[in-house]
Amino acid sequence: MNTLVASRHSQRLQSALPPVPALFERLRAVLSEPEASAAEVARVIEGDPAIAARVLRASNSARYAPASEVCSIRQAVMLMGVSAVGNVLLEAGLTRAFAHLSDDFDLDGFFGHAVRTATSCRELAALSQARCVDPEQAYATGLLHDVGQIALANADPTTYGEVLDASGGDEEILLEVEREAFGLDHAAYGSWILRQWRLPESIAVAVERHHHVELLAEVAPLERLVRMHDRFDEAWMSGGAEQALETRENELMLLLDVPPDVFARHLEERVAFADLYTGSHGDLRSKAALFSGGELC
Ligand SMILES: [Fe+2]
Ligand SMILES: [Fe+2]
Repeated sequence: MNTLVASRHSQRLQSALPPVPALFERLRAVLSEPEASAAEVARVIEGDPAIAARVLRASNSARYAPASEVCSIRQAVMLMGVSAVGNVLLEAGLTRAFAHLSDDFDLDGFFGHAVRTATSCRELAALSQARCVDPEQAYATGLLHDVGQIALANADPTTYGEVLDASGGDEEILLEVEREAFGLDHAAYGSWILRQWRLPESIAVAVERHHHVELLAEVAPLERLVRMHDRFDEAWMSGGAEQALETRENELMLLLDVPPDVFARHLEERVAFADLYTGSHGDLRSKAALFSGGELC
């Protein structure tokens, strides 16, 4: 990709490319067969007991609410669908690929933000009446949107530690300091990695542009979702739910084709999920109305 080739650190960054999670690659190979069955997908997953356990746990979670306990991977694949299972694999692969960074990088903070963003993107995509964004693709995009950060830390932990210190937690400064130190920022590096991993171009584009500043109404729905929830979570982590809601009001102004009461429930669930809300839930419904009634697609 041009941005990477133009970077004076191009060689170092290219050689530091984390491998595509192995199991994800095997799953892709199985799915490239036109007649791939749930049993074949299950066989790939069963080859890795730790990931098989994750898939079983996910399939028994409240999200899928199975009528009786799911005990086999094949059942889990049929219940969750291949895309959702692919996201479990991707998440596990990312955790493994970067686990060695734990002393130099706040992995818990990174994955917490990634999973919260991913979960919010998936929920809102599913709530959208127009159904123009696949919820599992929205999840993958949210999960991966900052993968460039962890990959820059992987390429040069010391320099990236200095970059993070210099940014003082400010996203705009972070991007600038990344460009000074590495010749490109985490959005550009992340999208380059996803293209090397042969993930869908729509995900790579949304990741590449997740810090762009155009009005949300002017960008593609997938990009809109990830940008909105990324900023929402950043504001949430620094100032709690009230600040996050202000961010939506002042900067994001996303019009959603989600009914106000459904959107209010979504906000309340986000609040419970992060367990960071300190104010009153009372005005969530009226705030939700500000963001509802328009078109996502
Ligand atoms: Fe970012
Ligand atoms: Fe982010």
